[in-house]
Amino acid sequence: MTHPSNANVLVLFGITGDLGKKKLFPAIVELARAGLLDGPVIGVGRSDHSDDDLWDMLVGATDESARGLKSTLDLAYCKGDSTETDVYDRIAARVEEQDRVVVYTALPPSLFAGVAEQVGSSAFADRARLVLEKPFGNDRASACELFSAVTKAIDSERVFAVDHFLAKAEVEHLARFRYANPIIDAAFDRNHVDRIEVTMAEAFGVDGRGSFYDSVGALRDVVQNHLLQLIAVLLMDEPADDSAAAFDETRADLLRAMEPLDPASVVLGQFDGYLDIEGVAEDSTVETFVAAKLHVDNARWKGVDIHLRTGKELESSVTEVKVCLGANSIRFGIKPDTAIVLELQVDDEPTEVAVCGPRGHTVGEGGVLASGLDKGGPLGDYATMFAGALSDDHRHFARIADIERAWEIVDPVLDRDHAPTIYPRGSAGPLVRFGPDSTGEDRQS
Ligand code: BG6
Repeated sequence: MTHPSNANVLVLFGITGDLGKKKLFPAIVELARAGLLDGPVIGVGRSDHSDDDLWDMLVGATDESARGLKSTLDLAYCKGDSTETDVYDRIAARVEEQDRVVVYTALPPSLFAGVAEQVGSSAFADRARLVLEKPFGNDRASACELFSAVTKAIDSERVFAVDHFLAKAEVEHLARFRYANPIIDAAFDRNHVDRIEVTMAEAFGVDGRGSFYDSVGALRDVVQNHLLQLIAVLLMDEPADDSAAAFDETRADLLRAMEPLDPASVVLGQFDGYLDIEGVAEDSTVETFVAAKLHVDNARWKGVDIHLRTGKELESSVTEVKVCLGANSIRFGIKPDTAIVLELQVDDEPTEVAVCGPRGHTVGEGGVLASGLDKGGPLGDYATMFAGALSDDHRHFARIADIERAWEIVDPVLDRDHAPTIYPRGSAGPLVRFGPDSTGEDRQS
């Protein structure tokens, strides 16, 4: 397959894992269909596979129609271990001298610094970008150490830290929708908002990634990153201009104003049967559920309770934000329903008015469709990030300083000597009671 002389090559370490199926292969297909790949995509793994096996994995993760991309997508497999120099030599042999090489790593964080050193001393070092998949350390101290080692090997301008929630169009819309609608923006403050509820419920568990998950838990897996960033986007002030830098800086201001989590406002749970999952320690006290109450200490939000709830094996899969303002509320559905639903009182009856989001929508029972905003579908989260890294655009990535700040927010509640409350699979999680010795209780007892 011929490529332009300065093509953008995407190298993916860890493509044969769980994330490959869920996110990486579907993103490659999206990018190829959108004509955004002009160079080869090289999947790297430690097992023996052929290029054809990689195609089969891509089709398995998407559908048979993806095979039709064979004439335009140059997909290749490269066997190798990220810790050995050979593999970088083999990648170098596959790329042309002018190509930019974007190396993405879905690998244990203990390997990141080594990968950065290898990339930094490879034959394509001057044309390389490094995209790192979370988790970034275990706490603030280890994250700082990790990023300091990585940026010693590769200039920070060429390092991209993944938080795919920042690449979800639905998340960015939380902010954009507000500024574009003065009637909403004017009501978004401590004088009007009583409470905010952020939910990321998942009806599935951690099968197939037990040993990884057991080293992480829900606080580190989704709270420290996705959910704190989502709250920051929701509550940040309007940026001074349209630039990515202004957006990021204003979001960072909000993270700086967020108060570190208080152990009295955090309840942890673990679903029944977690301990039987392959890879999970038999006496594990790792949390699969977190409920927390957060506060933002700034003029706009001081005193407003932000309730966050996330967990695995819950009754349904829903990611949404609900902003409660007295008799009204606005619900921003992020997944699976991308509608914005406004609850108004009409003749003393609560009535829902729904406006569909950027990727189609589902209007709930009794909802009234006011108008549609379907713009024909932006790219999905991982495709957005890869497109960004391929064109040196940091807009949809997390900034290192913000990641370190987010660790500061969760550090006070990590690794507490406090067993999580067990909750049944398919339930709403433990009944949450915050207080000096915050506990969860079984809803069914
Ligand atoms: C990942 C977590 O970062 O995000 C998973 O490791 C979680 O545990 C996933 O399920 C959720 O992302 P999305 O985009 O599927 O909602």
